[in-house]
Amino acid sequence: MIRSAIIGCGSYTPENIVKNSDLEGVVETSDEWIVQRTGIRQRHIAVEGETTADLGEKAARAALIHAGITPDDLDMIILATSTPNNTFPATSVEIQHRLGMSHGAAFDSQAVCSGFVFALTTADQYIRTGFAKRILVIGAETFSRILDWNDRTTCVLFGDGAGAVVLEAVEGEGAPTDRGILTAHLRSDGSHKQKLYVDGGPSSTKTVGFLRMEGREVFRHAVGMITDVIEAAYAATGYGSEDLDWFVPHQANKRIIDASAKKLGIPPEKVVITVDHHGNTSAASIPLAFCEAVTDGRIKKGDLVLFEAMGGGFTWGSVLFRY
Ligand code: ACO
Repeated sequence: MIRSAIIGCGSYTPENIVKNSDLEGVVETSDEWIVQRTGIRQRHIAVEGETTADLGEKAARAALIHAGITPDDLDMIILATSTPNNTFPATSVEIQHRLGMSHGAAFDSQAVCSGFVFALTTADQYIRTGFAKRILVIGAETFSRILDWNDRTTCVLFGDGAGAVVLEAVEGEGAPTDRGILTAHLRSDGSHKQKLYVDGGPSSTKTVGFLRMEGREVFRHAVGMITDVIEAAYAATGYGSEDLDWFVPHQANKRIIDASAKKLGIPPEKVVITVDHHGNTSAASIPLAFCEAVTDGRIKKGDLVLFEAMGGGFTWGSVLFRY
């Protein structure tokens, strides 16, 4: 059977670093409060004029180099983002053009913080049906643009960045020992909209709007939802937490990651954490974390890796694969 294997990854974060202490002058907060409640110490923030397409393009180019291919070898680009350059056209099409690619197709996918898991799962379907052979999947965000910088309960949590992977069709046996994506599980439930949303949009207010969140409510639901889709991945493959080489969760909050890993029996040394230096970069957080652990040599070819995310909607999902 056809499997989708990750053959390369790349990432990019803006040069501008904002430390917690820098935010003490923006809102009434402290480094101690932010570190204790979230584990975040700093985040990258795009400077004026630096856009989601800029970050996504840089991550995409790095992923193509790492995979050893050129844009000519791609059939498709899927960009996960909630902070596009324009309402339309899709930012992925702009990135496609910048890469000099005039064949194939590009489109954006929107599932907020779960966006990368949704985009990766979508790409996997195209590959396994034979519709495409190679797909570039990008998660890129400039969440700083939709933050209310007067709201200390949200503005300290997020950062900007981009990560990308190249998926390629490979032959598999149909066994859990195969290389590539082994199983994926997606969920959403719109009844939770008011707990995490942006209070604007083209059709409702004709504005972009700002992120609004009931932090405690998000926290209350997060661990259960994350556990749900991970247990579904285990049930589908016969694997369990003891078989994982690496757990790469969405980087929203260190306390959510720790609580989820503990509940699932995943030891801390198998968890990739980047929230301390990236903050929550929404759809970019998983590919940023994955790429960091591949680049520093922790994640190796053949490792069993679990991605998991939960975000606005609510949406949530998991992807279990062998790198
Ligand atoms: N600095 C200082 N004090 C603050 C700040 C801040 N930045 N923000 C809130 N406070 C205050 C509050 O006003 C409150 O003060 P009060 O007691 O005088 O009213 C106090 O701190 C406690 O506020 P809580 O909201 O109860 O704090 P909590 O311990 O729940 O932590 C947090 C807040 C970090 C947002 C937590 O609820 C959380 O992690 N929620 C998950 C949400 C999340 O991670 N969202 C990310 C997006 S969703 C996603 O990516 C999946």
